[in-house]
Amino acid sequence: MNNEKLRYGLIGAGSNAERKHLNNYMTLPNVELVAICDVNIENAQRLAKKYNIPKVYGNYEEMLNNEELDLVSVCTPNYLHAEISTYALLKGVHVHCEKPLAVDAKQAQKIVDAKNLSGKKVMVGLNNRFTNEAVFLKKYIDVGYLGDIYQVKAGWIRRSGIPGRGTWFTNKDCAGGGVMIDLGVHYLDLALYLIGMPEPSYVTGAIHQNFSHTTTRNRNGYKGDPNGIFNVEDTAVGFIGFQNGATVNFEFSWASNIEQDKTFVEILGTKGGVSLINGEVRIQSEILDTCVDIAPVLNPNIKLKNEFEHFVQCILSGEELIAPAEHGVYMMNIIDHFYKAAYKKKPVTFENSNDNILLFSSPFREIK
Ligand SMILES: NC(=O)c1ccc[n+]([C@@H]2O[C@H](COP(=O)([O-])OP(=O)(O)OC[C@H]3O[C@@H](n4cnc5c(N)ncnc54)[C@H](O)[C@@H]3O)[C@@H](O)[C@H]2O)c1
Repeated sequence: MNNEKLRYGLIGAGSNAERKHLNNYMTLPNVELVAICDVNIENAQRLAKKYNIPKVYGNYEEMLNNEELDLVSVCTPNYLHAEISTYALLKGVHVHCEKPLAVDAKQAQKIVDAKNLSGKKVMVGLNNRFTNEAVFLKKYIDVGYLGDIYQVKAGWIRRSGIPGRGTWFTNKDCAGGGVMIDLGVHYLDLALYLIGMPEPSYVTGAIHQNFSHTTTRNRNGYKGDPNGIFNVEDTAVGFIGFQNGATVNFEFSWASNIEQDKTFVEILGTKGGVSLINGEVRIQSEILDTCVDIAPVLNPNIKLKNEFEHFVQCILSGEELIAPAEHGVYMMNIIDHFYKAAYKKKPVTFENSNDNILLFSSPFREIK
């Protein structure tokens, strides 16, 4: 670290790297953009020129060996997240890794192990945890306004939103899966984060692939490759039961015959409910024995939490991470079990789930 500025490097100079990471890290006074790397060197050169980054590399190992960096963003295709993050951590560099943390729980755990060995920090790029709405909802739920949470719905469904048909996103070896690992990682994560990430007990679900052959369902602005591979799901639906009795049903789709795109998290508790539908927060409650809906007015000009500022604060002053690597392992463990259930066409239980259910005991929660 130089004059209290973190020396920053970026690995994987694609669309998300520019839109999210560079655009934000460049604004922070205690971060110095030092180096950028991409196997496609032209991508790195273009962004280096635009953002005035002095050093350009075509190989991440070379960059990490040559430069004294404090912090890197890992914005490559998913299958490289574990390899690159682990390498950076063992070089003594903090890592801001894009979601999903890795393609499965085993690889995600390797990142946690490297982090523990190095004493450095890892944050997962779960930007949906940092919106004003999510920050507000997390506080509201943690205070206990909902009572006992028993049921959650989560989803992100698009009519035409394949992120580049035939690119690495639709290739299982590169992405680890399809829409579940892409959009599911965002909104199932958000739902489970809000309810405190309970221990899962069992999961069931299905995956569908109906739009791999179409040329009309690409996401706006994402180029496809007509000769590329498409061997992942474009729709995923499922149901998770948790050891505390709560349940979640979810639906994710890159392409579907629906009227309108929709994102949603709906959380039902014994004392109240909350919803976040297409970015709008609502609270469902009771006042004077009457059901009421409350629409909180969040000031869009005040950013309650900034993902990038937050990570820098965590590094500099030990603030607790909102999206630590361990949460990435939790999510990938659920996704691994979901895929297993979908392929087997059977519910799958989690290894540590409690099978000692007392026969004839009531399955219902005691009403207090
Ligand atoms: N948080 C979000 O909202 C969000 C949004 C989009 C993408 N993402 C995630 O960001 C990551 C990148 O997605 P994208 O849309 O930017 O993809 P992209 O294809 O636009 O960019 C990936 C870049 O990585 C480069 N790359 C490939 N192998 C490399 C290597 N060995 N070393 C260095 N660079 C390498 C590619 O050349 C490319 O420039 C993915 O993990 C994706 O899931 C997150």
